[in-house]
Amino acid sequence: MIQHGLKGVIAAETAISFIDGNKGYLVYRGKEAKEIALNYSFEEAAYFLWHGTFPTKEELASLNQKLKNNRTLPQNIEKIMQLLPNDMELMSVIRTVVSSLGNSQYKWKPTIDEAIRLTAIIPTIIAYWKRKISGLQPVTPNEDYGHVENYLYMLTGKKPLDVHVKTLETYMILTMEHGMNASTFSARVTVSTESDMISAITSAIGTMKGPLHGGAPSDVTIMLNEIGTKENAESWLRAKLENGERLMGFGHRVYKTKDPRALALKEKALEIGQDDPWLALALHVEETAIQLLEEYKPGRKLYTNVEFFAAAVMRAINMEDDLFTPTFTASRVVGWSAHVLEQAERNVIFRPESQYIGSLPFLMN
Ligand code: ACO
Repeated sequence: MIQHGLKGVIAAETAISFIDGNKGYLVYRGKEAKEIALNYSFEEAAYFLWHGTFPTKEELASLNQKLKNNRTLPQNIEKIMQLLPNDMELMSVIRTVVSSLGNSQYKWKPTIDEAIRLTAIIPTIIAYWKRKISGLQPVTPNEDYGHVENYLYMLTGKKPLDVHVKTLETYMILTMEHGMNASTFSARVTVSTESDMISAITSAIGTMKGPLHGGAPSDVTIMLNEIGTKENAESWLRAKLENGERLMGFGHRVYKTKDPRALALKEKALEIGQDDPWLALALHVEETAIQLLEEYKPGRKLYTNVEFFAAAVMRAINMEDDLFTPTFTASRVVGWSAHVLEQAERNVIFRPESQYIGSLPFLMN
C-alpha cells in the first residue's frame, strides 16, 4: 500500500526526541522540552540533544570556547556573501553559504565538532546578510556574550535586553528538535549515502524553506496584517476556507491537539506583549480560526502550531519577518546535526520504492 507523504511510516529509530501528538507532549532525550526551554541555556540544551546528558562546568566551558572559535566568518565566505545579489532570499543565502563551507575537511563520518561549527556560524551568516543588504557594517561577535545574545547583538550592534534574549532563547530551544520532520528526514537521507555533515545540513535547509514546513511564520504575520481588525477576522478566514485555502499557522502532521511549543510560546508572548493590540488580534484569530476549521474540516483536529505563536514572539522582540525562518534554522541545526550523528552511527541507506503508474513497452505487458 502506498503511504503518500510517508504518513505514519516509521523510517528510523531515534533516542533524540519523542512526540505524543494526541496528548501534546514533546520530549528531548527523556525530558520535557518545555522544562528545558525554561530552565537551561541554548548551549546546555544543544549539548543535551547532542550527548544525552547536561554538560559539567568544564564541558560547558569547552563548548562555549568552540562556539566562540567558530562564530567568525572565514574571509572566503565573506567574499562569497559579498558576491551574492542583495535580492536573494535569506534562506537561499544560508543554504548557499552553508554549502560553500564544505571544504575537504568535511567527510564521512560526520563529527560533533562539525555540528558545533555549523551551530556557531549560522547566526553570523544571518546577521552579516541582514546588515549587508541594509548597507551596514557587519558586527564582530562579542566574546563575552552567549550564543543567543550574540545573535541579537550581531543583528543590531547593540547589547540586547535580557528579556529579549531569554524570550528568543526559549523559542530557539523549543524549536531545536522535532522528530522525523521533513527537514530532519532530508538530512538523514543525505548522510545515509555516507555523504558529509555540510551536505546533510544543506539538504535540510532547502527543505526547511517551504511554507508547509518552516516558511510559515512570516505568512502568519501577512495573514494577521491582512485581517487587520477583530471585526474582519471571521469573514476573512471564512473566505479563505470557502476557497479551499489553508490557514497558515494551523494544523500539524503529528499534533492532533494543541502543539505544546505553541502553548509555551503563547505564554511567553503574553508575558512580554500583553498590551500589544497585534497580540490581542492574534488571540482572537486563533479562537475564531479553530472554530471555523472544525466547521469546514470536521474531525481533522486542526489547532495552532508552533509557527503561529513564533510570529507573535518574534514580533514582541522586534525581529523582522524575514528573520523568522532563518532563526528557526539557527535553532534546528542542533536537531539536524544530532540526527546526522545518530544516523551515521547505525547507518542504512534510505531507498524506498515507488509505484510506477506510467505506460510499459509492449514486450513487458
Ligand atoms: N488550513 C485549512 N485546512 C487544513 C490546514 C490548514 N492550515 N491544515 C490541514 N488542513 C486540512 C487539509 O485540507 C485536509 O483536508 P481534507 O481532509 O478535506 O483533504 C486535512 O486538513 C488534513 O490535511 P493534510 O494536508 O493531510 O495534513 P498534513 O498532516 O499532511 O499537513 C501541514 C500538515 C502541512 C502542517 C498542514 O496542516 C498545513 O498545510 N498547515 C498550514 C501551513 C503551516 O502552518 N505550516 C507550518 C507547520 S509547523 C512546522 O513545520 C514547524
